[in-house]
Amino acid sequence: MESRQAVSHKERPAAPVGGAADHEIALQVRVKSGYKLESETEMTARYRDVLVQTMLIAADLELSTITMYYTPLLMAPTLETKMAVASAMQDELGHAQVMYRMLEDFGYNTNQLIFERDPTEFRTFYLTQHEIKDYIQCVVYMLLGDRAGYTTTRDLEEACSFGPYARSLRKVNFEEKFHVAHGERWTRFYWNHSAETRQRVQEAIDFVFPNAVMWFGTPDHMKKRVDQLTYKIRGQSNDELRQRWLAEVVPFCESVGIRVPAHFEPALGRYVLDYQVPILLDEETGKWSDTPCTWEAQFAQWKKGGPTKVSGFQRLQEDHWGADLW
Ligand SMILES: [Fe+2]
Ligand SMILES: [Fe+2]
Repeated sequence: MESRQAVSHKERPAAPVGGAADHEIALQVRVKSGYKLESETEMTARYRDVLVQTMLIAADLELSTITMYYTPLLMAPTLETKMAVASAMQDELGHAQVMYRMLEDFGYNTNQLIFERDPTEFRTFYLTQHEIKDYIQCVVYMLLGDRAGYTTTRDLEEACSFGPYARSLRKVNFEEKFHVAHGERWTRFYWNHSAETRQRVQEAIDFVFPNAVMWFGTPDHMKKRVDQLTYKIRGQSNDELRQRWLAEVVPFCESVGIRVPAHFEPALGRYVLDYQVPILLDEETGKWSDTPCTWEAQFAQWKKGGPTKVSGFQRLQEDHWGADLW
């Protein structure tokens, strides 16, 4: 398996040369006009690399959510909510399975990817590298975090030029919609339940919101690699996806009464953040900085990763799960 796992942008030429350049351009024109590739034989090496890297990260992200929902599964207050969290975890494993299975067509091995890979090699985002502390934080994660993932996978379903991947995401998105709806329902419930649960919801929002904003990555003007858009693996840019997410979560939160650090700016015709990015999380206190940091500092925090970046996958691989759950 190591041969295919070793595929990376670093090992490929940065740009095609000679006749291959014509081939690349022809492919880019075709996918831009809506053509869907159906097999590996239609791909250029570079297209294949970009697609495989996209699917690998997406699959790892799906798997990482299972590691996050372990604690709230134990702490869910009723049998119904426990079943809902368990069901969402099973969905996420199914999403990961769909994507890892598809990667087998490109030479990968699902068992190796999930159970035999070094836990430090999983590629996830800072948003999914924290333990969810309790059920209220869990439903806020579903409201904001699953909504962020849903925003990404909807774009892939709508736009991805690799037909089999786009079609596989229909089921994934159908289920993500349930996770988001579960988050909305119970966030609203706890907001209106008591002063104590309302405060807990607000604290969870304050913790998760800036992290979900950064799910979509750096602002477009900073992005050096645009291959995903060039090959129409994705349809929308980082900033466009972030706007789409803001346009859904901000009105919902405002309708409930929850404070979020973003608002619609009529003069600009779009949502804007009420703080300047990037900002750092103090992992000891769980509070975000009031003042912006440098991008170098932000990248360093992402590179180091959150507290469960590695330990979550270690626990998953060691199968410390079932006996005490019920
Ligand atoms: Fe998912
Ligand atoms: Fe989900």
